[in-house]
Amino acid sequence: MDRITKRFLCLLLIALFFDFPVEIDAAGLKVGFYTKTCPSAESLVQQAVAAAFANNSGMAAGLIRMHFHDCFVRGCDGSVLLDSPNKTAEKDSIPNNPSLRGFEVIDAAKSAIEAKCPKTVSCADILAFAARDSVALTGNITYAVPAGRRMAHKPYASLLQNLCPPNVTRFTPTVTALDLISPTVLDNKYYVLLKQSLGLLTTDNALLTDANLSAIVTDYANHQKTWEGKFAKAMVKMGKIEVLTGNQGQIRVNCRVVNKGTDTEQGLVSGSGPDQFTGVASS
Ligand code: HEM
Ligand SMILES: *[C@@H]1O[C@H](CO)[C@@H](O)[C@H](O)[C@H]1NC(C)=O
Ligand SMILES: *[C@@H]1O[C@H](CO)[C@@H](O)[C@H](O)[C@H]1NC(C)=O
Ligand SMILES: *[C@@H]1O[C@H](CO)[C@@H](O)[C@H](O)[C@H]1NC(C)=O
Ligand SMILES: *[C@@H]1O[C@H](CO)[C@@H](O)[C@H](O)[C@H]1NC(C)=O
Ligand SMILES: *[C@@H]1O[C@H](CO)[C@@H](O)[C@H](O)[C@H]1NC(C)=O
Repeated sequence: MDRITKRFLCLLLIALFFDFPVEIDAAGLKVGFYTKTCPSAESLVQQAVAAAFANNSGMAAGLIRMHFHDCFVRGCDGSVLLDSPNKTAEKDSIPNNPSLRGFEVIDAAKSAIEAKCPKTVSCADILAFAARDSVALTGNITYAVPAGRRMAHKPYASLLQNLCPPNVTRFTPTVTALDLISPTVLDNKYYVLLKQSLGLLTTDNALLTDANLSAIVTDYANHQKTWEGKFAKAMVKMGKIEVLTGNQGQIRVNCRVVNKGTDTEQGLVSGSGPDQFTGVASS
């Protein structure tokens, strides 16, 4: 991961560690959600991720990021996976195209699962499982993923474009120092380097000048296990952001397209449209 990534990741994860008010609907999510309906679901995802990782280890980073991008636009509903004929889907937006990667891995996992248990396992859950498996492969950090997310019906114009600063793209200049320490490992090295004032931007320094935050930085720098535990908790918490559950949304057959026909159409949950991002978009 590059420095920009780690900086934002760090800020965001620190925010997630606190109980700042993200909308969470944990009620409908459950660890082992598919135990009865599709017992092999999680292992099929793990196999797809492991195969893709063996071929290209960068896929793990791509999948972790994709789960984040799914969750941070109208909740973890699988909408980031949708294709759009007119290039207005999330995946076509400036922060996502062409830099998001791993769509084929989700397709492969979904095909394997559909063959065993048709129309049962949501793409949003597959993505959450895949991110978890990627974390395990790159960081040896394990956590259980509560599942039961259902998927949004409609593609919609990207909101991430507004959510993230316009010029933070893959072209943003990056520094290689952090990459040299642990380029392919998910660990606490960001915090270790932060403490040494290495390769830092102004925003990184803010983590050191704020007394509360710097205490956390020190803690994470000194205790890999503490950071691991917090990271796993933050991933689970992120995965619960505004999920559709129960009979809301649908289970897509193909993660890239909304189901045709009415057989699986249900009322889309209200009050979770683009409006909620207005405040963020203007910041
Ligand atoms: C608003 C907050 C964030 C911003 C602005 C941001 C921005 C970026 C940027 C600019 C990149 C580089 C893209 C490229 O090289 O093409 C990136 C990559 C990445 N981000 Fe973030 N990020 C944010 C939060 C997060 C969070 C919360 C996570 C994890 C939960 C995350 C995980 C990643 C990963 C793993 C990569 C590398 C992806 C790959 O190699 O394919 N980011 N991010
Ligand atoms: C392996 O990775 C390469 C690129 O790194 C990609 O072109 C190819 O499709 C991948 N093969 C499989 C089986 O995933
Ligand atoms: C793109 O397509 C979607 C549905 O496929 C539609 O709702 C939207 O209005 C279209 N946007 C543009 C700019 O044509
Ligand atoms: C992975 O973590 C487990 C439990 O924390 C530990 O027992 C094991 O040795 C670790 N494996 C590697 C390769 O570091
Ligand atoms: C963003 O970057 C582009 C291309 O480098 C530049 O033309 C534009 O002025 C920048 N916008 C801002 C707000 O910095
Ligand atoms: C640090 O945390 C304490 C306890 O949560 C809080 O009361 C205080 O305002 C915080 N200080 C800063 C500078 O954020």
